[in-house]
Amino acid sequence: MVELSTSILSVEKDKATRTFYNLETAKTDYFHIDVMDGKFVTNDTSKIMKEYATTIRQISNTPLDVHLMTYSAKDYVEEYIDLEPNIITFHIEAIKSKEEAFELINFIKENNSRVGIAIKPSTNIQEIYEFLPFIHMLLIMTVEPGYGGQKLIPEMIEKVKELKQYINTNNIEIDIEVDGGINLENAELLKEAGANILVAGTSIIKSNDYKKVISELKK
Ligand code: DX5
Ligand code: ZN
Repeated sequence: MVELSTSILSVEKDKATRTFYNLETAKTDYFHIDVMDGKFVTNDTSKIMKEYATTIRQISNTPLDVHLMTYSAKDYVEEYIDLEPNIITFHIEAIKSKEEAFELINFIKENNSRVGIAIKPSTNIQEIYEFLPFIHMLLIMTVEPGYGGQKLIPEMIEKVKELKQYINTNNIEIDIEVDGGINLENAELLKEAGANILVAGTSIIKSNDYKKVISELKK
């Protein structure tokens, strides 16, 4: 059984609260908060994502899975800490040095959140091996970060397999999250490859039965 983290990126503002209630009832394991700064990716969702995450916190205890697609990740960690996120994930491509990455990992842990690292499709898995023993989750982007509704890049399935192989061989306990273009057609392949947390936005939000799609994806 895998866990399901619903991306709220494509939730419409005027239906937001109702949608969050419905997702809660449909038993999403996490709300996936896609924070974009308009610099690391062209889209800027920083304001709306903070509004949505605050609304979710007021009506639900379901854990927040915060995905920072931003530079100055530390500033965004500070912005989200008051919402007590379960996990905060930053992009390794937005970090200038190894020292900065370890500093950020410690800063997130000191603020009582679990920590994840995300990698873009073009980043090799070897580039993050050294961080794995110090983090709780590795997020493999299965689309180019920046917006929802894209098609999954099939080559990323190989990348999940490679990571799973590495963590098994090296006895590393870590969650593997995949994110982008995930639906009922490709979920099985990703689970078989070793992913244990699936992020889905469009395939859930655009459906007319959240509970059904979420339970199917998790099966
Ligand atoms: C893309 C985001 C993803 C995306 C997922 O930059 O990180 O979380 O919103 O949405 P879908 O499932 O529609 O690809
Ligand atoms: Zn995301």
